[in-house]
Amino acid sequence: MSQNGTKPTDGEAFSSGDRDGFIHRAFMRGAGHSSATVRRRPVIGICSAWSELNPCNSGLRDLAEFVKRGVTAAGGFPLEFPTISLAEPFIRPSTLYLRNLMAMDVEEMVTASPIDGVVLLGGCDKTLPAQLMGALSAGKPAIALTAGPRATARWEEAPLTIDDLWALSDRRRAGELDDAAWESLEGRLVPGIGTCNVLGTAVTMAMLAETLGMSLPGSSLLPAAGAARKAMAEETGRRAVELTRSGQPPSAYVCARSLENAFRVLCAVSGSTNAVIHLEAIAGRANLRIGPETMDEWSRTTPVLADVRPSGPRLLEDLEDAGGLRAVMTELRHLIHGDALAGTGEPWARVLDRFERRASPALRSAADPVFPSGGLVMLKGTLAPDGAVIKRSAADPRLWRHRGRAVVFDGVADLNARIDDPGLDITADSVLVLRGAGPVGGPGMPEVGQLPIPKRLLRQGVTDMVRISDARMSGTATGAVVLHVAPESAVGGPLALVRDGDLIVVDTETGRLDLDVDSAELKRRTPTSPPPRPARGYASLYHRHIQQSPEGCDFDFLSAGPGAPVISSPL
Ligand code: FES
Ligand code: MG
Repeated sequence: MSQNGTKPTDGEAFSSGDRDGFIHRAFMRGAGHSSATVRRRPVIGICSAWSELNPCNSGLRDLAEFVKRGVTAAGGFPLEFPTISLAEPFIRPSTLYLRNLMAMDVEEMVTASPIDGVVLLGGCDKTLPAQLMGALSAGKPAIALTAGPRATARWEEAPLTIDDLWALSDRRRAGELDDAAWESLEGRLVPGIGTCNVLGTAVTMAMLAETLGMSLPGSSLLPAAGAARKAMAEETGRRAVELTRSGQPPSAYVCARSLENAFRVLCAVSGSTNAVIHLEAIAGRANLRIGPETMDEWSRTTPVLADVRPSGPRLLEDLEDAGGLRAVMTELRHLIHGDALAGTGEPWARVLDRFERRASPALRSAADPVFPSGGLVMLKGTLAPDGAVIKRSAADPRLWRHRGRAVVFDGVADLNARIDDPGLDITADSVLVLRGAGPVGGPGMPEVGQLPIPKRLLRQGVTDMVRISDARMSGTATGAVVLHVAPESAVGGPLALVRDGDLIVVDTETGRLDLDVDSAELKRRTPTSPPPRPARGYASLYHRHIQQSPEGCDFDFLSAGPGAPVISSPL
């Protein structure tokens, strides 16, 4: 059915007295909506990342019904629609590779559809950042509701959360878990609907969306399957109508001050390193740039307060018992901008004034933090001229400063082929280096940065080693893992010149990452060759336009670009 207009559309398209309005109403009547319903305003799209190919998001279909209840109660007309959905465990080469495609899907569907505002239903890692990026670019009023964390399982008489997978796979590789144990684990690791039940990327991004005012206060940590999340969904539907009537676009919420708040929350909860990339990409869609220098300064002045898995021992539900994000923000009140808006449309200061946190060992006070500062350290140096990141709070303190000899792997296949080779010349003090796994080389920076510790060293009781790559790691992973080295090897970064035996120095105190090889010798070396240019399709578009991690890995034609104002601290 062709329409005559080319301009972006909104819910008014249903009201017009001309043939277009008639066609809009007639087709909706064909879907079973009444004459009165198709005339209700505003029209609220419910942009859902539900998919059977994405089990973490499998609760979103139910939640959509409760959102609709809220939209309808507030006088609106809710219409649910799908976009692509990215499941962390399944999508190859990585979900980051497709994040920008999903963001484009969201942007174009929100822009092109006859809706006045939108509720974003996301969850599994990349789906929420993609939705926030797309909604910012589309510019229609938008509010998110996330899938929520799944319940904690039990195994061997102890709580079992997704981050346990890494240590359990090491035990399996070391021969400590037999087939029966491994099979029993398969049936327990993921005990129901919802996103990963630790402070991995999904939960981190949910907390940051709440901080940015892009979801309702108190929503991010409510359990996926609980009644409270359903009620929150209804509340979100009501708020979507109110927000849409106010006409406020997402850029009224995502601003320099709320981005600083979000980054400080990220540091305080020791959240996922992936959020560093997503926040920069989200900033870019708001025509802003944060940059590694500002991020480092914020991190060095923010205490680490949450003692929650994967960085600490406590469970996510313990953090929720303390009051969740609002409790974290209460502890950070001296650092955050209270005038930034919460999802209710009020300044955060007012939301926090009426909130009382509960004592919990999962959330320390600013006066008695887990670490006084520097949970996430931005590194720079001769090995990473444009930056790299390490989640220091999740690394063995013995390795916060380290000097060791490189053992280099060229891509994931080489790593898998040789890591357990008994002839590999490696000790606990070696530095494992993986290259060819960056935004271009991966492509899409697969989450392989937490390189496995060789079996031989595992059996000797080695639990952490310095690992360096241009890849990312799962938000559920830990260790002395230096990630997002930029520029990556595939575009000629110094990582492409490293050889086995080179000395590498990492110092999280001074923020340095250096290759201790003289420049004359480096000039003599030939860098590893870049990957071939894909001939067609999305791969070709991606290859031509993907930016490096300090630019948030957004496409150059979608983000603010180098001319955007850089956020400096203090604001
Ligand atoms: Fe989907 Fe972790 S794998 S949220
Ligand atoms: Mg992940």
